[in-house]
Amino acid sequence: MRTTPSVAETKQRLERTGQQHLLTFWDSLDEARREALLESIVHLPLEHLSSMLSQAASLARPAAADIRPVRPYLRNMAEASKFRAIGDDLVKRGKVAAFIVAGGQGTRLGWRGPKGTYPATPVAGKPLFRVFAEQIMAAERAYGVRIPWFVMTSEANHHETERFFDDNRWFGRPRGDTMLFAQGMVPSVSLDGQVLLEQAWQPALNPDGHGGSLKALRQAGAIDHMQASGIEHLCYFQVDNPNVHVIDPLFLGLHVAAPDSSAEMSSKSVLKRDVTEKVGVFVKAPRLTVLEYSDAPKEIAEARDASGEIVYGEGSIAIHVIGVEFIRKLTDHPLGSVLPWHRAIKKVPFVDPITGQRTDPTEPNAIKLESFVFDALHEAESPIVLRTDRVEEFAPIKNATGEDSPSTSKAIQVERAARWLKEAGIAVPCHANGQPDCIVEISPLTARGPEDLRRMMHGKSITAGSEVLL
Ligand code: UD1
Repeated sequence: MRTTPSVAETKQRLERTGQQHLLTFWDSLDEARREALLESIVHLPLEHLSSMLSQAASLARPAAADIRPVRPYLRNMAEASKFRAIGDDLVKRGKVAAFIVAGGQGTRLGWRGPKGTYPATPVAGKPLFRVFAEQIMAAERAYGVRIPWFVMTSEANHHETERFFDDNRWFGRPRGDTMLFAQGMVPSVSLDGQVLLEQAWQPALNPDGHGGSLKALRQAGAIDHMQASGIEHLCYFQVDNPNVHVIDPLFLGLHVAAPDSSAEMSSKSVLKRDVTEKVGVFVKAPRLTVLEYSDAPKEIAEARDASGEIVYGEGSIAIHVIGVEFIRKLTDHPLGSVLPWHRAIKKVPFVDPITGQRTDPTEPNAIKLESFVFDALHEAESPIVLRTDRVEEFAPIKNATGEDSPSTSKAIQVERAARWLKEAGIAVPCHANGQPDCIVEISPLTARGPEDLRRMMHGKSITAGSEVLL
């Protein structure tokens, strides 16, 4: 059993690493806070901090001249049914688990609870976590298999997330088939590399980004657990997209069997709506890379070909299949993962070590480090991209209003439901502009696609202006 180092040992370590200021308020702290401070210092990666910061500061962005477009697979490709059958078989044999990253705070959305608790669907107002849980349950029923669900939270929302799952009786699935674990935290530092104090007894920390999910899976014992139970591939998705197809056999089949796939990491794209859409794009530089919208040179982001098409248009919808063995390889590293650190300069409230005053800075004063899961693509020998349909699979909820908000997401969810109904041969009343003149929601437990609707909707119809929950 590890014991917390003494104050003398901690002092020496802080002196060695140039962070002595963390004990500035030691004498004024009571016993409990002293213990809390020593305990948090022990977890800080102080010996590595300066190399993490310099690596982040020197992170090279690809030069525009080195960037090339990617050639994705398309859903209607010639051999789709062959790959779909391979994916079906993989799921049936219990080789697949679901993995959601839900550590973000949803600040942009202005929702107080964990983002997964947000009521997202157009008629029933189902929370995002329920939508995903029902999708997984529907796949479990269809394939006659248990599909474990790994849920990454963060320190800020772990307990609330766990309570929500508990209050909802784990959405009707066996408790043991969902594993919740929190992602790691990294210190927020001043612009000159000093770890900030959030309180006199507490260093300032921030979540280590969704790239931290790989390390967190490993540390939580999930990789060992998966490998012991024969799970080989993880279906990775974000908490903000109710239209995600959590278990997609075509995607899984391509991931494991496409001739140019190393079965380590595969990704889904949609064509960018317009050049200003805030999504990362898949490019070759020369390895497959996600170029974040904030990092893309203007000439790349806005490039169009002779026929007016966006050249670098494969927008990332942050859906991947990741090999479990690949994650083990990526996380065999002294710092827990090989993924590079990115830095963001932000405003972080802190306790001034000289005055002892807690200060709310008016200007950005801190470096926050985080890693991104898509950087794992660089480590994969031969990753592939599958382009999918935007309405079918991308209805993100990010902002309170405007683009990518609850109302745009609901409109896309309804559009997809109407499309499924039409494909199943059911007439859907429409406005003159082609948009559905009804609000329809299809529960994942009712139908996983148009084929399921055909059977159950036989002889039924939808009335104009109605609100329908199927
Ligand atoms: C993200 C992607 C972008 C992609 C878009 C698609 C990044 C940097 N950008 O943008 O390429 O086109 O989604 O919708 O990721 N999360 C954690 N822990 C963290 C940080 C984030 O779990 O420390 C989770 C969030 O809960 C969320 C997801 O990661 O599920 C995305 O995070 P967010 O920061 O909102 O990324 P976006 O700007 O939406």
